[in-house]
Amino acid sequence: MEAEVLRLGHRAHRDARVSTHIGLVARALGASKLHYSGQKDDTLENSINDISERWGGNFETEYIKNWKKFAKEFDGIKVHLTMYGELVQNTISEMNGKNVLIILGGQKVPGEVYDIADYNIAVTGQPHSEIAALAVFLDRYSGGEALETEFPDANISVKPSERGKDIVRK
Ligand SMILES: C[S@@+](CC[C@H](N)C(=O)[O-])C[C@H]1O[C@@H](n2cnc3c(N)ncnc32)[C@H](O)[C@@H]1O
Repeated sequence: MEAEVLRLGHRAHRDARVSTHIGLVARALGASKLHYSGQKDDTLENSINDISERWGGNFETEYIKNWKKFAKEFDGIKVHLTMYGELVQNTISEMNGKNVLIILGGQKVPGEVYDIADYNIAVTGQPHSEIAALAVFLDRYSGGEALETEFPDANISVKPSERGKDIVRK
């Protein structure tokens, strides 16, 4: 099973931090790829790739010009995260073990996404953040295994410790 993320409507300057964090959360919690639409942003791609090079794993970031075509042709289940959807805790069992494309909106969400998606899923019915929604979804989707994601060929990693910073460098 594999999870990929599609972030819609990226704006190079205004969304730099949020989109970078979407990529980092996706990577840290076991997704394999971030696709993003909106404005192509080399700085965003370089920031995420730089983390991957140092901290390991094979996470990829890719700009998508035509997100509708890409989403429609995705080989797996399309899951749009939205506060208006069905609750994740009631629906996640239908997605566990299957390839998923997790679609996250930006400031404005195009209406078509609700129809292109196989599932519109809410992480609570309250307005919050695409980063938080992604994290909770990946945890539930993986049945908790997202927290055990491994990162081969890391040049740097953290050894958990009760206090202070214990960093292992290759
Ligand atoms: C900050 S919200 C803005 C949404 C936008 N105002 C709209 O047109 O709906 C950006 C994204 O965060 C995600 N999001 C926010 N709250 C959510 C929730 N409760 N459950 C699932 N996803 C959520 C959705 O993917 C949403 O498109």
